[in-house]
Amino acid sequence: MSYLKLFSVLTLLAPLLWPTSAYTWPNTDTDILEAIYYQQIGYDGRRFSAFVRTCETGNNLGPGRTNSAEWIRTAYHDMATADVETGIGGMDASIGFERSRQENVGFHAFTETLLFFGDFMSARSSMADLIALGAVMSVTACTISPNRKPLFLPFRAGRVDATEAGPFGTPEPHQDLTSHTRSFEKQGFNSTEMIGLVACGHSLGGVNGRDFPEIVPAKNDSTNVDSKQAFDTNTVPKGVQLSEVITPIPLKPDNLFIAMNDGGNMTITGDIRIRIDDNLPTDSRQVFIHFKPRSPSTPAIPPVEATRLSENTTAWHPYAPSFEWWNFTTTVPASQGFESFTVEVVDDGQSTVHANGGGGFPLQTDLIPQNHLSCSSVYLGRAYLLNLTVAVRDELNFQDVKLTVPIPVRQAESVVPRFESHVLDMEKTGVLADTGYSLYTASLDVRPEHMYVTIMSYGLSGRGGARDVEVPFVLWKGMGTCPYS
Ligand SMILES: *[C@@H]1O[C@H](CO)[C@@H](O)[C@H](O)[C@H]1NC(C)=O
Ligand SMILES: *[C@@H]1O[C@H](CO)[C@@H](O)[C@H](O)[C@H]1NC(C)=O
Ligand SMILES: *[C@@H]1O[C@H](CO)[C@@H](O)[C@H](O)[C@H]1NC(C)=O
Ligand SMILES: *[C@@H]1O[C@H](CO)[C@@H](O)[C@H](O)[C@H]1NC(C)=O
Ligand SMILES: *[C@@H]1O[C@H](CO)[C@@H](O)[C@H](O)[C@H]1NC(C)=O
Ligand SMILES: *[C@@H]1O[C@H](CO)[C@@H](O)[C@H](O)[C@H]1NC(C)=O
Repeated sequence: MSYLKLFSVLTLLAPLLWPTSAYTWPNTDTDILEAIYYQQIGYDGRRFSAFVRTCETGNNLGPGRTNSAEWIRTAYHDMATADVETGIGGMDASIGFERSRQENVGFHAFTETLLFFGDFMSARSSMADLIALGAVMSVTACTISPNRKPLFLPFRAGRVDATEAGPFGTPEPHQDLTSHTRSFEKQGFNSTEMIGLVACGHSLGGVNGRDFPEIVPAKNDSTNVDSKQAFDTNTVPKGVQLSEVITPIPLKPDNLFIAMNDGGNMTITGDIRIRIDDNLPTDSRQVFIHFKPRSPSTPAIPPVEATRLSENTTAWHPYAPSFEWWNFTTTVPASQGFESFTVEVVDDGQSTVHANGGGGFPLQTDLIPQNHLSCSSVYLGRAYLLNLTVAVRDELNFQDVKLTVPIPVRQAESVVPRFESHVLDMEKTGVLADTGYSLYTASLDVRPEHMYVTIMSYGLSGRGGARDVEVPFVLWKGMGTCPYS
């Protein structure tokens, strides 16, 4: 059984990798997927893996059906229409448009899988990436055993969702060997690999007899243990760049908010997520935040001590990472003008400073969302509402401050939405005395015919001033609820 072969299928459809470099925070292209993958249960647990806790998890699916098999089958059928000659198709969530095809029997299973993944979609987590992540997690669930570590296939992000159906071409069981071989060749597989792939894909959950009465599931297939990928990279869809492999980040800031106060002060709050590894944290552990002023002539402030939260984030899958959390609050004059911070972790008197690859964790203070002056709501079936106020740094003299909000919209014939950006001008609504900041506000009220629950976000930009500033991906988080009217 060749799980690595499956991994090849999931990843190799896009060979152009970003240059290798160590992770630095933030990476707005991958941070949300890192959280969906590794924050499984507990504090800010994303619960994506709840449905593949084990290989057999099926919940209410009905007899003979397991999520792991259906998720892998969805991944396989989504990528199976790849045409290596034209570079069209591949893992792109086009399965959403293709569910009714004869070759994709199992309409309900695909629909249910896509609807489940839909809750985790965002402007930075495409359905195609979630399909790949679902298959990666299913493989982990199906390789849990008492004696060894399960397989954690390398997961990369960056797949782009299709906006129309792909070509026909998923091999069907009733076709003869020659047509199978031809269509697999089109995907870049030879006959040995084809046998391995079909056997592998189906041995996880068995072939569902209702969908495939014609074939007997291949079990215990050892013909394809040689699982090294050997795909010609010219066989691969064009124009997609995959990220680095997404690994659990050892120390990650989260939920960083800055509130500008009336009296010329600002309050900075944040969480620090620390991976619990073999070097178990001590009971006496202390965590300190060291803020670095933007200008060397600004006086430093004393380190801010963080508090350990009572809840951890853990995992269903053995050997998957778990995390502890710390939070901090500090109020300082707004004129402080910080640019970054480092995190010092002290265990039994031994200090380790985390500096995010050397430069510190950046603190974005050009366009600062003011959550206490803002609200957001998704009224399912009715409206997406966001009323956002941002503190804008005066000395940058922006001519143009914009709010961009990706809203999920229906695609005819698919259960998978696509995101359509609403771009709004932010209007100056006030001046914050003695801070060097002004308030800008914009309000969005979108009431589409079809509503989707996805992870909602927005972006900010400031242009036409001393320099351009982009804040590409901020979650709708930490704000009050907008009233519905
Ligand atoms: C699987 O195949 C191996 C050899 O290829 C054999 O030793 C083993 O007994 C088989 N297991 C089952 C369940 O058939
Ligand atoms: C298919 O490719 C694999 C390498 O991925 C190779 O080991 C195998 O011999 C090939 N099979 C055929 C029939 O060419
Ligand atoms: C501003 O913060 C300082 C401490 O940094 C505090 O002494 C002062 O009272 C605060 N001012 C207001 C108006 O909150
Ligand atoms: C969180 O993890 C730490 C380190 O493993 C452990 O000492 C602590 O008991 C955990 N807390 C909870 C609430 O489980
Ligand atoms: C940390 O979070 C807890 C729970 O949300 C909150 O009650 C507490 O005030 C926070 N502490 C700090 C220092 O931010
Ligand atoms: C948005 O919020 C501001 C207060 O921050 C309020 O004055 C304004 O009326 C709100 N706009 C809408 C359209 O609700």
